[in-house]
Amino acid sequence: MGDRFSIEALLPEDYLDHQLRSDVRAGLTGRPKSVQPKWFYDAAGSRLFERITRLPEYYPTRAEREILTARSGEIAAATGAASLIELGSGSSEKTRILLEALEPDVYIPVDVSRTALEDAAAGLVRAHPDLTVHAVVGDFQHELKLPRSPGPRLLAFLGGTIGNLTPGRRERFLAGLPGLLEPGDSLLVGTDLVKDERTLVAAYDDAQGVTAAFNKNMLRVLNRRLGADFDPERFSHVARWDARREWIEMRLRSDGAQSVRIASLDLEVRFDDGEDLLTETSTKFRREGVAAELERAGFALRRWWTDEAGRFAVSLAELS
Ligand code: SAH
Ligand code: TRP
Repeated sequence: MGDRFSIEALLPEDYLDHQLRSDVRAGLTGRPKSVQPKWFYDAAGSRLFERITRLPEYYPTRAEREILTARSGEIAAATGAASLIELGSGSSEKTRILLEALEPDVYIPVDVSRTALEDAAAGLVRAHPDLTVHAVVGDFQHELKLPRSPGPRLLAFLGGTIGNLTPGRRERFLAGLPGLLEPGDSLLVGTDLVKDERTLVAAYDDAQGVTAAFNKNMLRVLNRRLGADFDPERFSHVARWDARREWIEMRLRSDGAQSVRIASLDLEVRFDDGEDLLTETSTKFRREGVAAELERAGFALRRWWTDEAGRFAVSLAELS
């Protein structure tokens, strides 16, 4: 791939390990028990997520791709971006639509998953002969610093991943974004929208069980990285809609009472029969909520686009 691809770890070698340990200790000793969703994405988890994006029930990826395809020309004209920065870039699959319209000089994908960044890079460099890809292994929830890049910049956060941050974390995350940008830069955010419960629950509990496998893969990540002895067969995948908070909750429910040992934390965790481990929330938004959250963080919502069916939205905002 020559000099046009580089991958930089912004985090000290052992940072993610430390973070994983302290998150898991806090999450498994708290009530309800929980683990943060960023730990889903080892190599197997990133690949399972790619399969989720192609499931018939999982509409968000297709809806967002429809919007980007229809609006990428407008996005390019409105932002004039010379650099595209993307948080939680994963496979960068939908990003290709933006890259084609923007033709930026530099693309900076940021992800906690090094394998996702590496898998995405080869194809990108091949498809865009004039593009410099400066990939960053980093945690967008923690003191994110970006390499210098030519302005104007477009900072993209796609896939509805912003909805996987709980409200307090989301507010802190958004409040940090203006510090990464300069006047004239823009923000592009994809958000899934509130809709009927049946459609929502099906998107997180598909008939083939891919989402269940993805959810249980979290336990394999903990087994491998922390020497835990979770038996994934003794947990069931649960997806439920919380109508008051307007989010989908993903849980792993203990089949029977059991004890799990997490060797590298020297921790023994007891699960009652039917007790849940919360692995993810996925907030569904409304336009007013998105506008208000952006405004509170120092952005003005300039454009709001949805797919034809009104399932998903992409927002373009500027620093205010
Ligand atoms: N943007 C892609 C992938 C979405 S999946 C799409 O729209 O399909 C969410 C991605 O965010 C995963 O690749 C995951 O590794 C990454 N991610 C999750 N939490 C993160 C964090 N705190 N910092 C950086 N990347 C994170
Ligand atoms: N950002 C995606 C979403 O909230 C992530 C996701 C989709 C996900 N399906 C999942 C995370 C299943 C955990 C389990 O839609």
